[in-house]
Amino acid sequence: MARALDQQGASFELHYLCRSSGRAAFFDEMSTAFPSQVRLYTDDQPPQFDAVTAFSGATADTGLYICGPQGLIEALENQALELGWAHEQIHYELFNRSDSLTHESDNRFEIALIDTDTVIHVEADETALEALMRSGFEVPCSCEQGVCGSCLLEVVDGLPDHRDMFLTEQEREENSRFTPCCSRSLSPRLTVRLP
Ligand code: FES
Repeated sequence: MARALDQQGASFELHYLCRSSGRAAFFDEMSTAFPSQVRLYTDDQPPQFDAVTAFSGATADTGLYICGPQGLIEALENQALELGWAHEQIHYELFNRSDSLTHESDNRFEIALIDTDTVIHVEADETALEALMRSGFEVPCSCEQGVCGSCLLEVVDGLPDHRDMFLTEQEREENSRFTPCCSRSLSPRLTVRLP
């Protein structure tokens, strides 16, 4: 969208809300291409996102596009409405799966990081992404539901149990990448390469 708007000569701002800069997928690429239009807000350092500032200055032909999980969309939509935006100006893309992930039959497995001696145990009740973060490794991510593909990791060895909605059937059969936010492992150990 940013590139398309830029090519059309249309003005835009992108406000990117994320838990930490290490989890902000594609931020470097976007902020390099559009340094004055892209702003990042993270939980771990100021500035914090301020809807009053971000949503001010809109005219009747300004559009607001909110992309993210349901709670974020509802909160920002309500703030925009309170600030005078019309329903017709507000559009959103929900990060949500049409099916639901179940964890009843999940097993423990290991993630080995190539080029290091690190082996991380993924417990049955946590995701591989959570286990990586718990162990101090930052992996870019966004939806955490297997929808956006921002957390993709290269699989060097082992057999992933693909549960995402991002990879194509062919990519699943290749088993060369997996989404740690929701996918698991059919082999006791998956060896991966961090980005
Ligand atoms: S964070 Fe979106 S697919 Fe993993």
